[in-house]
Amino acid sequence: MISPASIEQLLNAVVIEDVVGDYVNLRRSGARYKGVCPFHDEKTPSFIVSPGLGIYKCFGCQKGGNAIQFLMEIDNMSYPEASRSLAKRYGIELIETGTRDDDEYKEKQKVRESLQAALDYAADFFENQLHDVEEGKTKAMPYFKERGYTYETIRKWRLGYSPEAWEAFTQKAIKEGYKAENLELAGLIKKRENGSHYDLYRNRVIFPLIGVSGKLLGFAGRKMSSADPAPKYVNSPETELYKKSDFLFGIFQAKNAIKKQDKVYLTEGYTDVITLHQAGIENAVASSGTALTPNQIKLIRRFTPNVTVVYDGDAAGIKASLRGIDLLLSDDLNVRVVSLPEGEDPDSYCAKLGGEGFADYLAKEEQNFIIFKARLLLDECGSDPIKKSEAIRDILQSVACMNDALKRNAMNHELARVCEVDESLLASELGKLLRNKNLKHEQDFIQEVKQVTAASGVDMPKEALTDIHQERALFRILLLHGEEPWDENTRLSDFVVKELKEDDQLIFNDDMCALITSEIKSASWEVWPGKNYFIQHANMEIASWAAGVLSSGYELSVAYADNFIHVKKEEDNYRNELTAVFLYLRKKKLDNLIKHYTQSLQEPDADVSEILEMLNYLNDLRARVAKKIGGVVFSI
Ligand code: GTP
Ligand code: MN
Repeated sequence: MISPASIEQLLNAVVIEDVVGDYVNLRRSGARYKGVCPFHDEKTPSFIVSPGLGIYKCFGCQKGGNAIQFLMEIDNMSYPEASRSLAKRYGIELIETGTRDDDEYKEKQKVRESLQAALDYAADFFENQLHDVEEGKTKAMPYFKERGYTYETIRKWRLGYSPEAWEAFTQKAIKEGYKAENLELAGLIKKRENGSHYDLYRNRVIFPLIGVSGKLLGFAGRKMSSADPAPKYVNSPETELYKKSDFLFGIFQAKNAIKKQDKVYLTEGYTDVITLHQAGIENAVASSGTALTPNQIKLIRRFTPNVTVVYDGDAAGIKASLRGIDLLLSDDLNVRVVSLPEGEDPDSYCAKLGGEGFADYLAKEEQNFIIFKARLLLDECGSDPIKKSEAIRDILQSVACMNDALKRNAMNHELARVCEVDESLLASELGKLLRNKNLKHEQDFIQEVKQVTAASGVDMPKEALTDIHQERALFRILLLHGEEPWDENTRLSDFVVKELKEDDQLIFNDDMCALITSEIKSASWEVWPGKNYFIQHANMEIASWAAGVLSSGYELSVAYADNFIHVKKEEDNYRNELTAVFLYLRKKKLDNLIKHYTQSLQEPDADVSEILEMLNYLNDLRARVAKKIGGVVFSI
């Protein structure tokens, strides 16, 4: 057991925003930090870190705690493991009693440790086969030399060789006491139908896959001869330790250089990274030949916002990766691109130009991603005006991914020149795209507020939440615009009906609204039946309400808060009004929650700091809600 005194000493030394900041992109907000919660899926940040209290808290999924608990949660560590890892980071000596292997270790943790041990053993085995065994010395070493790798490089990357025999590694490892089951779970060996095992990487040179903290996670084995019909690489399968979508090859070796130069070069292949590093370009990583994933982007973000993608010089590959890059843009990364001459990859071209020559080439050829994309797509259109307008829309999609309005404007200006179209035309097309994107934000915001009020865990009296104007506005919009789109995939009626059915906190004062709600909840139809269904309804009250709404003539009467939408368009009014209704519907609930927590401060055993954090967040959320709905006036 670790002594409570040293845990206290540890928690005092820990800088929680740094610990969390390794995993979450935090922005300062007053005395606290805010970010997007790493534990549940959300778009708007409801995750806060409070340096004063040394805690984190997500108001969306309710997870929270101190730095030790954060590591336990996010890295699946046990309590002692997380404590030891923090102690190491902050140079604190923990006083431990009893054995290190106390019963706090979970079973899973034990498995992870055995896998780690098996991998470490395998890395030694493969290195040994390369450096000290005849087969490796004569087959694999010449392959690396041929590629131009120096001895230092081979050692630095722990490159190795796995022999041709079927069970060379399997038999040795089992003889050394490693369990076949663990070797299999570590992705090192495979089981035959008869129950015996064989090596996964045979007759291949070995590239160890090392995680950001320096731990070995798996291997990639490359064939040595292009005459060999087998696939070029055999990669580690997904294991408890290796998750392909979280991994960037070279990140451990590159991270300091990336930080120092505030830039990362993103390539496709393991060999690109190794060659670039050997040539002195040490801020290079590879995405292992697949499109970038959100987790890989988060990993990059920890070290720099500046990403330069170095493409192989073949057009198909370039086109394939264009889409993935929008993800980088929407994460506020500055994306640049360098393309290489046809038939070259970073590995081959760097070898050709030498380190300095290649560094010069990168610096000189680097261009903004969107401009690069524009030139590429326009080149393909020739003089076909339809193709050209499609290309421009595609390019604007990328511009719309950028969150910074100033950068977007500058980009538009530049694009107008490159595409030879009117800047104002681009701006108005972009406006349309942004409206859709903004709508998405509004919808995410509704969900955030809903989640907070629903998941609060506080038992609230079921009471009607709104005034009659807002209630009636909801059903009026539903009747008038039910068939119209709410977002790309759903119609407005789909959204409203789902909310009415799922959220039992939505209760209405107005008799008419309550009646229609119960009609909708008990209805047998799956698909919104449309206006006529209500006009012709057997219940006369519903029929006359519908007739009244429809015959009153719909006057657009929404006034906008300044921040409500980017471009005011009549066709968007019903959406804005509906968004406002749903926010109103839950604002009362927020008010009640705030009241509840304020009262609970008085309780004798209240956790004051926790409650104050909660109140801080709720007040902030309520202010955001008020700001959004501030300017909307409902028509009745
Ligand atoms: P060289 O051709 O020797 O320069 O190797 P490379 O690593 O640059 O490979 P390439 O450019 O063909 O592919 C880029 C990346 O895609 C590789 O580093 C691998 O991560 C991945 N990859 C390529 N071929 C395969 C394959 O056959 N199987 C798997 N699983 N991955 C592959
Ligand atoms: Mn390559």
